[in-house]
Amino acid sequence: MKVFNTVKELRKELEPLRQTSKTIGLVPTMGALHEGHLSLARRAKQECDIVVVSDFVNPIQFNNQHDLDTYPRTIDEDTEKLRGVNCDFLFAPSVEEMYPTPVADKYSFGKLEEVMEGPRRPGHFSGVAVVVRRLFDIVEPQKAFFGEKDFQQLAIIKNLVQQINYNIEIVPCPLVRADDGLALSSRNKRLSAENRTKAPKIHATLSQATQKAGNMSVAQVKQWVIDVFNADPAFEPEYFEIVEDQTLQPIASWNDADGIVGCIAVWMDDVRLIDIIRFK
Ligand code: PAF
Repeated sequence: MKVFNTVKELRKELEPLRQTSKTIGLVPTMGALHEGHLSLARRAKQECDIVVVSDFVNPIQFNNQHDLDTYPRTIDEDTEKLRGVNCDFLFAPSVEEMYPTPVADKYSFGKLEEVMEGPRRPGHFSGVAVVVRRLFDIVEPQKAFFGEKDFQQLAIIKNLVQQINYNIEIVPCPLVRADDGLALSSRNKRLSAENRTKAPKIHATLSQATQKAGNMSVAQVKQWVIDVFNADPAFEPEYFEIVEDQTLQPIASWNDADGIVGCIAVWMDDVRLIDIIRFK
């Protein structure tokens, strides 16, 4: 695996490969890699000739300075893990390399960003879109791989590709869980030992919620989930929404949509965790 820190060097390496019609797959990450990221890289390796993984903690998508400052940075371990999955190129630029001049670009996603993460993390999705578009411009992949755990981000990125009219296939990849059910996330590293043992309750509760859907209304299931977490001092729920899986608009009745997903954000001390569950 070759490691690149500059755009120029990476482009120079990719250019001749493009001439030989090799397909290029991009896996954008912010590092602190876990099995979820590695599953994206493996999938990319199955579907593309050349796999580029980017490892860049993107400051302009953080709306909370503490979250940015404490975001785990583990480039040496990440490099080893990517070698283990036969990644071809690791792109790990500095902030100055990605953003040599102040960032003026702004993206809007209409109703897609009016729900869940959007209002709670102002500017977040525009910051994600800026870095993802830059990565697309640098790597020019045929396919890009994103995890379904960040369900709203995935919808936003599909919308971005339509807005900018790029011929890039966005490949959604399934969420990966720890054996105890906790959705894998780089932020799990920041949980206290005690909170780590309690955190699987998030998935357990969402799974129970899907069982309740037969007897309860959408509003009742939403309230039940929020009540479960409010009753446990280890958790502070931020939102739980039950949405149509394409438009991400909240539904009022189980018959409102063919694809329905529940999305949650909860705090455990100063760590914010998200998870999803499919109702149908
Ligand atoms: O999902 C992430 O890790 C980030 O939001 C992404 C897509 C790599 C952009 O910085």
